[in-house]
Amino acid sequence: MTTTKTLLVPDIGDFKNVPVIEILVRPGDAISIEDALLTLESDKATIDVPSAAAGIVRQIMVKPGDTVSAGTPMMVIEMADEVAAATVTAAPAVVPAAAPGVVAPAVAPPVPLPAAPTASPAAAQRAAHAGPSLRKFARELGIDITLVPGSGPKGRIQREDLIAYVKGLTADAARAPAPAAPGTGLQLLPWPQVDFARFGPVRSEPLSRIRKIAGANLSRNWAMIPHVTNQDEADVTELEAFRLQLNRENEKSGPKVSLLAFLIKASALALKKFPTFNASLDGDTLVMKDYFNIGFAADTPHGLVVPVIRGVDRKGILDIAGEMAQLAQLARDGALKPEQMQGGCFSISSLGGIGGTFFTPIINAPEVAILGVCKAAMKPVWDGGVFVPRLILPLSLSWDHRVVDGAEAARFNAFLGQLLSDMRRLLL
Ligand code: COA
Repeated sequence: MTTTKTLLVPDIGDFKNVPVIEILVRPGDAISIEDALLTLESDKATIDVPSAAAGIVRQIMVKPGDTVSAGTPMMVIEMADEVAAATVTAAPAVVPAAAPGVVAPAVAPPVPLPAAPTASPAAAQRAAHAGPSLRKFARELGIDITLVPGSGPKGRIQREDLIAYVKGLTADAARAPAPAAPGTGLQLLPWPQVDFARFGPVRSEPLSRIRKIAGANLSRNWAMIPHVTNQDEADVTELEAFRLQLNRENEKSGPKVSLLAFLIKASALALKKFPTFNASLDGDTLVMKDYFNIGFAADTPHGLVVPVIRGVDRKGILDIAGEMAQLAQLARDGALKPEQMQGGCFSISSLGGIGGTFFTPIINAPEVAILGVCKAAMKPVWDGGVFVPRLILPLSLSWDHRVVDGAEAARFNAFLGQLLSDMRRLLL
């Protein structure tokens, strides 16, 4: 005879309303006591929630993005009689969140993380399909299981796959070249250690989780991608007049349209015309994308996040404006789902509502380029006879010099400028 049991989140100390970032089991999985079921991630720690009983997973009651506290029902398992009496006493394994660039061996594998202006690499975003005991084994070996190719049904990772992967790593290590000669690696000085309190009163504020994730991604992207930034200007005098008119017409019914909506649309057209900008570098291969998903940086109280608008080429300006407003609101509420920040091909970082002339946006790997936009300003422009006042929008395009050359980047920017100067071209 079998009986079912609802497993609750056990006592997780001071943590409350902690986001679930990964479900480590699937319905039908056989689990043992202590097998990790969920991974939670708070500002301060990554928490693997272990099972307090053995059995078969029948129902999972939470999903990534949900927040849980002690006592929240997690899942229903079917237990054998002999284990039905098991008590819910196991304490979760709480480990400090990994510092940027540091692999914390006891922590569950990386998952689709929300928010960074730079999305995680595709491999890390794949949810690994493996049983809990194999995940546990991988963690004990310090292996990121999301990187292990699975040979089982539907790509399920088998024990042999993990062993083959570890053997491959060992062989790679044996073939690895001698330590880099000076000048070929990042021979960085240690971070300066300063006792700031010696110079005046200080306060310490921990970085938010989003800022930590964003910081690690930005550092990698800045260090690994040879960035070049082309600066250009677009005459948006007519576009701005049209935008204002549109907003007057739609004052009651439609979403408010900002310049960014036009920039998103125009960027999709520029990506179509210059396909290497709509690509990602994968080793020696360029993966060219036939879809046009554009992320926009949104400033939130928790840090910077990059929601993605998908299929921009198939959407009109009002649709884009509406979706942008929705995503920006979710971002500010900290309620964006991981999938709403994935799949981007190109990003736009607009500081236009704030100010500035030009800046260097950091590419959102594995994308190839990012557009930075500052505040449009009235400037005198020579029309061949006289200076006329025109509204000029500064554009800063950062691009990966491994993929794109300067001439192509200049053409991309010029084309974008033409689209914005004469939006009839958006129709072509
Ligand atoms: N030039 C002049 N004015 C501009 C402009 C530009 N390039 N871009 C926006 N504006 C105006 C808007 O039209 C609006 O004016 P209005 O209220 O008179 O209509 C005002 O500035 C405020 O715009 P904003 O709220 O910024 O809307 P948006 O649609 O342009 O941007 C977000 C939405 C979510 C992108 C924005 O709120 C945001 O978070 N920006 C910061 C992004 C960031 O931090 N990037 C840096 C990454 S390193």
